[in-house]
Amino acid sequence: MPLVSMRQLLDEAAKGGYGVGAFNVNNMEQIQAIMEAARETKSPVIVQASRGARSYSQDKYLYHLMLAAAELYPEIPLVLHLDHGNSVETCKSAIELGFTSVMMDGSLMPDGKTPSSFDYNVKATREVVAMAHAKGITVEGEIGCLGGIEDGHGTGLDGLSHLTDPAQAAEFVKQTGLDALAIAIGTSHGAYKFSKKPTGETLKMDRLIEIHKLLPNTHLVMHGSSSVPKDLQDIINQYGGKLKPTWGVPVEEIQLGIKNGVRKINVDTDNRLAITGAIRKVFAEKPEEFDPRSYLKPAREAMKKVVALRMTQFGQAGHAGDYAPVPLSEMAARYAQKKAA
Ligand code: 13P
Repeated sequence: MPLVSMRQLLDEAAKGGYGVGAFNVNNMEQIQAIMEAARETKSPVIVQASRGARSYSQDKYLYHLMLAAAELYPEIPLVLHLDHGNSVETCKSAIELGFTSVMMDGSLMPDGKTPSSFDYNVKATREVVAMAHAKGITVEGEIGCLGGIEDGHGTGLDGLSHLTDPAQAAEFVKQTGLDALAIAIGTSHGAYKFSKKPTGETLKMDRLIEIHKLLPNTHLVMHGSSSVPKDLQDIINQYGGKLKPTWGVPVEEIQLGIKNGVRKINVDTDNRLAITGAIRKVFAEKPEEFDPRSYLKPAREAMKKVVALRMTQFGQAGHAGDYAPVPLSEMAARYAQKKAA
């Protein structure tokens, strides 16, 4: 199966009332872990790469690994998505390389740090929508700013500093015509999201519900959605790590989000934790080992377990075979038809 449109995956998820995890990758083992989890749970899947991941992997490597994944797992609808594109040019280069979905994060200026104006965000996102839709490629935008920093991208502020304004979100969707909308409801990238289990004061699920009421047909995206499970933190610390106590987004809150329009859930940190814990364990227990496979295999297996669990919890499990992929040329024709109507 070729790499497919994210819009199609999200439309199908909305029909079926489930969410789809979007998992970040930088290398072969992470892609393998996700694909094995997808096969085991029969899940459609979104694999995403940030600018940092593209530079780490000289993105051609990453792209060809994704082509290999599509060839080896023909039964799995598979999207390659750009996470947090910082400019129109970054989105353009991803589209030219073969990504089937891009995020134009115009909530920040191209430096990836400074919160932007609404007008700037609309202009940049509209430009990407016009360029991407002409090729059948999906566009995610963001309104409001997430907390934290991921791969050098982010305000570095806490998640409550720039929450999404529901009325502004509705206006943004109307003016841009995007496919999926990332909203800020108190989450942050990285391991340190909350200093205790989040409450309605720190994780604003009521705001998400309000946005969904105004935009019932827009696919919402939850970023910063790792749950940072204590057992994964404990493995790292047991084998010499030094993580401070921290809390992520509870899975039941994500499930509440899925009932209220969330179709894409971004997870990176949980997989990083699983990988690091597994590698630390081998290093601590078998200090004589020096074959990278001796620790990369358990790392890959640990990540696969986390991904498979999330696929089941988000509800995408069992849905890989529900539909045939719509070619990107057909998606482009549909966008053109909608625009003309
Ligand atoms: P986490 O750091 O919570 O995994 O979030 C990842 C993310 O939102 C990628 O865009």
